[in-house]
Amino acid sequence: MKGVVLAGGTGSRLSPLTRVTNKHLLPVYDKPMIYYPLQTLVQAGIEDIVIVTGGHSAGDFLRLLRNGKDFGLRQLNFAYQEGEDGIADALRLAEPFVRGDKVCVVLGDNIIEGSIVEAKKRFDAQEQGAKILLKEVPDPERFGVPVFDKGKIVRIEEKPRTPASPYAVIGIYFYDATVFSRIQELKPSGRQEYEITDVNNSYLADGHLTHEILDGWWTDAGTFESLWRASKLVRELRENVLHDEPVLAAKGEQPA
Ligand code: DAU
Repeated sequence: MKGVVLAGGTGSRLSPLTRVTNKHLLPVYDKPMIYYPLQTLVQAGIEDIVIVTGGHSAGDFLRLLRNGKDFGLRQLNFAYQEGEDGIADALRLAEPFVRGDKVCVVLGDNIIEGSIVEAKKRFDAQEQGAKILLKEVPDPERFGVPVFDKGKIVRIEEKPRTPASPYAVIGIYFYDATVFSRIQELKPSGRQEYEITDVNNSYLADGHLTHEILDGWWTDAGTFESLWRASKLVRELRENVLHDEPVLAAKGEQPA
């Protein structure tokens, strides 16, 4: 399975922080934001990764990440999105790299506490289609929101004014190779973007979309509030790990 991190867009909601640099290079506690989605892929055993970026600081990604050695990778690949025509438009650029394989796509501002390794295993075993991950949130109107009927998703709505469920579709998606022909069919939305929610709805219409609920916390980091929350959550996670270590050591165990 190939991995894609989407790190284009202007990050206008974080202006002026994003006036001179790309949102995904901003700090989230002790690491640049892009480290977290990369880590999510690598931890799941996905090592063929392309980063799609854009804007005026694209070269800084190469300076920061080099060949991916900090993540135990031998090589990293890069693609450049002209403009900011949406998440599905950015994903389209990964097609020559993915070359008919399955793909796991992570939005560059999405950070999770745990791992996607089990979800990946289940998608590996899924013959075709797509898998999305959901998380219950207090503010679903900021996200893609699944509409359920008798326990089944019947539709996903992008940033609905009145959310039909308390769940957000998080920015980690598993797709089969048909994703690129589906993107080809898309029309720009009301906000003039090629929406990833329309890609997911296309799989749903064919009956090829599975979903699961993510364990552990999840946050995006694209607004001042969520960027701040992301730093706080990562710091708490680090603190817990640091506090746990002496306890484990005292018991003669190795920290994981
Ligand atoms: O965080 C999860 C949410 O992400 C989903 O629930 C929504 O369905 C999905 O549309 C998306 O919503 P946002 O409005 O938060 O997406 P945003 O425009 O902030 O873009 C998220 C990431 O996608 C961004 O960090 C980089 C990448 N991106 C975005 C655009 C618009 C690109 O690479 N190129 C783009 O043109």
